[in-house]
Amino acid sequence: MTSDEQDKRVDAVGIGVIGLGRAFMLMLPDFERDPRFNLVAACDIRADARESFSSRYDAAVYSEVEKLAADPSVEAVYIASPHQLHEEHAIAVLNAGKHILIEKPIAVDLASSRAIIEAAARSKGKVIVGPSHSFDPQIEACLRIVKSEEFGSLRMIRTSYYTDFMYRPRRLEELRTEDGGGVLFSQAAHQVDVVRLLAGGRTKQVFAHTGDWDKQRSSEGAYMALLKFENGISANLFYSGYAHFDTDEEFNWMSELGIKKDPAQYGAARKLLKTVDGKAEEILKNRRAFGSVAKSLKASGNEHFGELTLTFDHADIRVTPQALEIYGGDYIRTERVLPVIAGRRNVLNALWALVRENAPAVQDERWGHATLEVCHGILNSGRSGEVQIMREQVPVSGYPKTI
Ligand SMILES: NC(=O)c1ccc[n+]([C@@H]2O[C@H](COP(=O)([O-])OP(=O)(O)OC[C@H]3O[C@@H](n4cnc5c(N)ncnc54)[C@H](O)[C@@H]3O)[C@@H](O)[C@H]2O)c1
Repeated sequence: MTSDEQDKRVDAVGIGVIGLGRAFMLMLPDFERDPRFNLVAACDIRADARESFSSRYDAAVYSEVEKLAADPSVEAVYIASPHQLHEEHAIAVLNAGKHILIEKPIAVDLASSRAIIEAAARSKGKVIVGPSHSFDPQIEACLRIVKSEEFGSLRMIRTSYYTDFMYRPRRLEELRTEDGGGVLFSQAAHQVDVVRLLAGGRTKQVFAHTGDWDKQRSSEGAYMALLKFENGISANLFYSGYAHFDTDEEFNWMSELGIKKDPAQYGAARKLLKTVDGKAEEILKNRRAFGSVAKSLKASGNEHFGELTLTFDHADIRVTPQALEIYGGDYIRTERVLPVIAGRRNVLNALWALVRENAPAVQDERWGHATLEVCHGILNSGRSGEVQIMREQVPVSGYPKTI
């Protein structure tokens, strides 16, 4: 059967996109190669991005979110606008009765994510918050082991990532904490999602130290947090977005996005930043958006979010993008994780299941809200020096669709 014939057998889901920026560029290869989805409409405030989209996909384009939500060819909307707009955009789409895949973090304020939860409760539309690295295939492989209790109970999780996040080109608000800037929303949301998924979801307490060390780019750029879960599991989360070391080196220079890095490019983000300031930096960021770059870079391995080690009663497991290294006391075993050719296919599997099989995702709006509560817990604990008690946590409800 040719791929064209195969495509015709699939009742493809009509996708509308809000925000044709960097995040959309990262999802684009997966949307393009998956016959279960058709890009049918997009909304952006940038006219050049709208023009590029309509010429490439023969799709409708809008500058107003409500018009995209009302388009009858749109069944589900991928919301990839800046986080501070997520509440407004999610509610507009849910009010039109459509499903959403909304980028992490679900919102900046907890009041905003509560409003999204309320809108979802009134709507026929359902929600997935993602992609986050909790969808990565190696995390699913770990979850299978946790659930099987093959090595006894999971006791502790340690995860860390050294990156240059704070020195990549940013919009101004990406460096303002109150608008969701710094690493506590954009990056902790990934780490917290991974850890909550493996530890059962219900965080009890958060204690953290945070760092805001570069006054030229003042926002929390680093943190170290201790999470305790209701079931007794604990997790240690470390992230530095000011790093000079790069954790990707430990994975043979495989980047977070599963794209091989050239070690000769070490330090490139900092060097580039020295050549621009203010508005010029925003222009630089837009150069990575749709309409400015010809195509997305191709992944050659699994995505990942830095180091991850799990401690069970009878084994420690070191998780790499391609494998689980199992240290069982009297043996060391490697379990390969097959590379997911389309890096974000698991997210699209969840979206397909939600729209066509009416199967809710684990990472739904309540899940995203609980992750956001932990992100705020890290921020508040860092500022106050006190343990923060979590009150709106939810358990892992069922298995992710791909397990
Ligand atoms: N999951 C991931 O790997 C990942 C990676 C990058 C970004 N993100 C998330 O994606 C979201 C967007 O981040 P980004 O880096 O792509 O930002 P970006 O600035 O590159 O893109 C945002 C896009 O939204 C458009 N936009 C702004 N206001 C709009 C409006 N009112 N209506 C319609 N479009 C509007 C902008 O013109 C731009 O094209 C953030 O929430 C971020 O956390 C996720």
